[in-house]
Amino acid sequence: MKISVIGTGYVGLVTGVCFADLGHKVICVDIDSERVNKINSGVPPIYEENLKGILEKNIKENRIQATTSLKNAIMNSEISFISVGTPSGLLDYIDLKYIDEVCKDIGKIIKDKKEYHLVVVKSTVIPGTTEHSVLPILERYSGKKVGKDFGVAMNPEFLREGKAIQDFLNPDRIILGCIDERSEILLRELYSYFDSPILNTNPRTAEMIKYSTNSFLVTKISFINEIGNICKQLGIDVYEVAKGLGMDSRVSPNFLNAGLGFGGSCFPKDVKALVGKAKEVYYHPIVLNAALELNETQPLRMIELLERKIKSLKDVNVIILGLAFKPGTNDMREAPSIKIIQHLLNLGAHVHVTDPAALDEAKKIFSGKNNLKFYTSAKEAVKQGKYILIVTEWEEFKTEELYRGKVVIDGRKIEEAKIAFDYEGVCW
Ligand code: UDX
Ligand code: UDX
Repeated sequence: MKISVIGTGYVGLVTGVCFADLGHKVICVDIDSERVNKINSGVPPIYEENLKGILEKNIKENRIQATTSLKNAIMNSEISFISVGTPSGLLDYIDLKYIDEVCKDIGKIIKDKKEYHLVVVKSTVIPGTTEHSVLPILERYSGKKVGKDFGVAMNPEFLREGKAIQDFLNPDRIILGCIDERSEILLRELYSYFDSPILNTNPRTAEMIKYSTNSFLVTKISFINEIGNICKQLGIDVYEVAKGLGMDSRVSPNFLNAGLGFGGSCFPKDVKALVGKAKEVYYHPIVLNAALELNETQPLRMIELLERKIKSLKDVNVIILGLAFKPGTNDMREAPSIKIIQHLLNLGAHVHVTDPAALDEAKKIFSGKNNLKFYTSAKEAVKQGKYILIVTEWEEFKTEELYRGKVVIDGRKIEEAKIAFDYEGVCW
């Protein structure tokens, strides 16, 4: 099939590259010409495991290309996936300006297109967006009718950064929210390669399935962190508890890693957006707010534990191992490290940080800060003092040598750190 993907962030680019690798003809569109040039020369503008190899292969075999021309992409494809960003706007409400703009432009283009064109929303959008915003904009700007001249569907993604290709190719389920029958037929054909179950529903339910998935996972993380905080007071290792808890098939062992809580470009933004939407319809969400609230303070528990050991952190050298919100990425959006570093600096500590991938990102966030130094290797960083905080569980930090003779507060349960002179976990 001929596919276009609009927006080449990690979701759009991975979607395009994977569909190309399955044999489809793909055109990726982005307003950022630098990104487009990079993609066309086989260089992914983001880091994703295995992405470069698959991109290069499909460029060579002529199945994928990138362009800044939306018109060219729409005219030469039968299905378009919209995967532009949907950031937090004012007061954490979702900002749909990119989606609206793209839909207006698509509408104007399909006005002149003779063939039926299917528009699929892949970006995470608040329930109701596809039916009450995307669809009317497309109809207004194209002067055409949904179901007759063009189709509309919502098809959420469940891709983890760093594991996005693996997640794309092995989905637990495929959720389709189609407005018209023809859209469903086309999407079922497109996804016929996958043997995962397909759930077809209406767009607003598909949108809510995405939000409820992320909200559930966030709640599960905050839940295990809360159990962990209680365990800590009682001298119990929450990881042993999680092992026993996860053996219950109703619970499952996944997403029970207690520690510093969740960050990233999706979890905090999506749950806040759902809270915002709930308020709009006069519902006060208790569980979701609690999950977010616990996550706000969880990273700072490390500093409390450190302060129990040394009364004042003023002029004390503290080493931070890990800046990215999780291993395998350079992404620092909503990373717990940001709060921890900021708080330590406020307390007058001298902070020494290292990360295998996110140093450049950290430099952008903390530019010009006194008392903050960056190190390219953990080995160098730990030479700067006695107190170590483990913030991201990179493989590079799983070596005993880093911790010998040190005082370590571990936020991510790294076994090798237990060799430290004084070792303590945040929830164990
Ligand atoms: C995606 C989804 O779109 C988002 O809804 C979901 O919650 C997380 O994953 P992501 O892939 O991280 O977002 O997006 P981002 O990194 O912001 O990239 C979006 C791309 O779209 C950028 O390359 C940007 O240049 C491009 N873009 C944006 C357009 O091409 N046109 C626009 O009008 C706006
Ligand atoms: C997430 C979702 O998993 C994905 O389906 C969605 O589409 C985008 O958001 P991502 O943000 O890439 O993906 O990361 P994920 O691996 O899910 O981890 C998110 C955060 O939760 C990280 O900060 C991680 O450290 C934290 N986490 C995860 C825990 O603290 N404990 C856990 O048990 C699992």
